[in-house]
Amino acid sequence: MKQDKAATEAASLPSSIVFAARHLLVILLSLLIPSSIRAFPHRHDCPPSASLRRPASRLSSLVRRHNTSLNDHSSGTSVIRAIATDFDGTFLNSSHGCSPANVWAYREAMRRGYAIFPATGRSRPGAFNAMGQVLGEELRREGSPGVYLNGLLVYGPDGPNDLVFTRTMDAATSESVVEMCRSLEASFVAYSGDAILCEQRTHHTDRLATYKEPRPHPIGPLTDALRGRDTSRESSGTRGVRNGQGELLVNKFIILDEAERIDALRGWVEGRLAGKATITQALPTMLEILPLGASKGDGVRRLMEHMQMDLRHMLALGDAENDKEMLTLAGHSVATANAHASVRSVAQHLVSSNDQDGFSEALERLCGITQTPPPPSPAVEESRTTRSSRKVTTTLS
Ligand SMILES: *[C@@H]1O[C@H](CO)[C@@H](O)[C@H](O)[C@H]1NC(C)=O
Ligand SMILES: *[C@@H]1O[C@H](CO)[C@@H](O)[C@H](O)[C@H]1NC(C)=O
Repeated sequence: MKQDKAATEAASLPSSIVFAARHLLVILLSLLIPSSIRAFPHRHDCPPSASLRRPASRLSSLVRRHNTSLNDHSSGTSVIRAIATDFDGTFLNSSHGCSPANVWAYREAMRRGYAIFPATGRSRPGAFNAMGQVLGEELRREGSPGVYLNGLLVYGPDGPNDLVFTRTMDAATSESVVEMCRSLEASFVAYSGDAILCEQRTHHTDRLATYKEPRPHPIGPLTDALRGRDTSRESSGTRGVRNGQGELLVNKFIILDEAERIDALRGWVEGRLAGKATITQALPTMLEILPLGASKGDGVRRLMEHMQMDLRHMLALGDAENDKEMLTLAGHSVATANAHASVRSVAQHLVSSNDQDGFSEALERLCGITQTPPPPSPAVEESRTTRSSRKVTTTLS
C-alpha cells in the first residue's frame, strides 16, 4: 500500500521522482530486516559440536539455549539433555573442592531440567561431601542419578531407592582378598554400596577423609561379615549391602599404604588375583581391587538406558584414562586442560583446567548456562561473543 502511495506520488508529481526513489529504498530495507531476523534462529540448529577450538563456532554454542522441545538436528549430533561429569580432576579442583562457579553451573543445569550426574570413582557420600554442603545436602535429600565406584554402583534419579546396577565381588574372591591383606598386615577398606568398612581404623584408612570420602567404619573381622556371622547391630548406613543370608557384598577393596610398599605389592597381588579381579591404581598410595568387567563407561550407558535417554544427547566431561570410554560413547565430549593427552585426543572440545573452572566453562559454551541474563537482541549476542567466557565466570566468585 505504501508502495502504491509512493507510485502515485511519483506519477502525479514528476519533480518528486527522487523522493519516491528514497521512499522505495526505505520500504525495501524494512522488508529486508524481518528476513534477517527470521534467518537468525537457524543458528540454533547449528550442532554445538562444531568445535569450540574454532572461535568462529563459539557463537552457535553461545546462542543455543536449552529448549527441551527441540528435536534432533539432522546433522547427526543432537541437543544435550544429560550431563555426566567426572569428579576428581574435572568437576573438583586439585584440592578436591569445588568452586562457587562450578556449583552454580551444576545447580543451574538441574534447574533447567538437564539430567546431570556424577560419573566418578568415588562413593556416593564421598561425591556429595565434595560438592559443598548446600548442593551436597540438596542432592542427598532430593535424590540424584549417579555412576559411582567407577561403574560398580549405578543409581537412577531417585538415588539409592532406584538401584540400576551393582557389581560385587564373588564371596570366595572377597575372602581371599581379606586373608591376603591380613597376611600382609596391610591396611585395607571394603566399599559396600554407600558404606566404607574396615576391620580397624589406621592412619592409612583415615587418609580417605582427605579426599572427602567418608571415614571408614570399623566393623571387626570382615570374614565374619562376608559369611553373615557378624553380630554387630550396625545402622543401614554402616552395615553395607547384604544378601538374603546377611552376607556382606563388597563392590571393591582398597589397600592403603606408603607408595613404595604399594609399588612392591602390586605385582604380587596381581599374580594372586589373576583372572579373579582387576587391579588398578588411581593414586600411588592406594591399590584398588575390583570385580572383573565393570567400567565407568558401562555404568553411564546403563544409567542413560534406565532414564530412556540416547547417548547422543549426553555431554560427558572428564580428564583421566578411565573417562575415555564415556567420552567416546557420548554425543558431546569435553576434556579439561589438565587432562591426559590421550584423553584430550578423544574429546571433541577442550576447556580450561579443573582449577580454572573448566566445568562451568563447558556448560556455558555448550549449554548456554551462564549467569548473565539472556540477551535482548541479536546485536547484543554478537557483542557478547567477543567477550571471553573466562570473564563471565570470574564475576561469580
Ligand atoms: C523451543 O523449540 C520449539 C521447537 O523448535 C519452538 O517452537 C519453541 O518456540 C522453542 N521455545 C523456546 C523457549 O525457545
Ligand atoms: C578448591 O576449592 C575449594 C572450595 O571452593 C577452595 O577452598 C580451594 O582453595 C580450591 N583449591 C584450589 C587449588 O583451587
